[in-house]
Amino acid sequence: MTVVNDRPTSFWLRLLKQRRARMYDEHLDLSAPIEWKDPEEQEAAIRFFNAAFRAEESGLRQAHEIADDVAKWDPELAETLTLYGDEEGWHRELLTKFMTYIGGDIRPMGPTTGTFYKLYAKAERHETIILTNLMFETIGATTYRLALRTAKSHPAIRQMLTILTRDESFHVPLNVHFLRRILERAEPNALHRLRPLYHLLTAALMASAAASRRRAKPFDHIPFKTLARAYAEHLGRLFMHAEDFGLAPSRLLLATVGLRRSDLLGEDDVLSVQAAERAADRTQVVVSAL
Ligand SMILES: [Fe+2]
Ligand SMILES: [Fe+2]
Repeated sequence: MTVVNDRPTSFWLRLLKQRRARMYDEHLDLSAPIEWKDPEEQEAAIRFFNAAFRAEESGLRQAHEIADDVAKWDPELAETLTLYGDEEGWHRELLTKFMTYIGGDIRPMGPTTGTFYKLYAKAERHETIILTNLMFETIGATTYRLALRTAKSHPAIRQMLTILTRDESFHVPLNVHFLRRILERAEPNALHRLRPLYHLLTAALMASAAASRRRAKPFDHIPFKTLARAYAEHLGRLFMHAEDFGLAPSRLLLATVGLRRSDLLGEDDVLSVQAAERAADRTQVVVSAL
């Protein structure tokens, strides 16, 4: 299998340092005002980017907390986690500016999202946190990629979505690396214990597509079926290609969106290390690969 290859931590650290060198020079061009079709479209956009903001905030905090613990046994991996968290911090800054630009603000989380993030924040085992994070990154990359095709077309919106798609796509194989390294140090049955969580999260994230459609569809125009199927496909592909985790997607769940395991075996550019290397070069945007 050529996808999600195992590369040394030094490889990821080098890419993150390259990315950091360019990161803060990249700015959003928010000069052209957005004309909304109606208030509903604007409200949906504010909700869409609020969800993105919460994901960034959570990724940033978890990465830095784990980095502190990991520093005791693998300083190089800890530095990699820190730089990864910094990228999420940078996204959070961009989204904060972007939110003001679209006439919104950072809002308190709703009850469902709030409960979910509270539970996630309480997770203690590193492998649980990284697996959850990896799955969030995967659905983030998937949602942004789809939204780039169908969301309201405006240069600033495209730029924001392009940055997020490019970077979250890079974060997926990076988190696969984190999970592998963390599992090497974990208790022998750790991987076994992750299995129910993987299945539960896959189902919960697919169900979350329904809730997000109620809130964000007037902005991103992604139909529920398309989003739920894309989540199942990419969350499944990820682990079909990283066979060492033994986390194959449920046949039953795939069938609910008309997919079979064999559909997930082909090359997946979103998750490959090659795609990650391309994403390390911030001058190459992912839009051309769509
Ligand atoms: Fe991010
Ligand atoms: Fe990310």
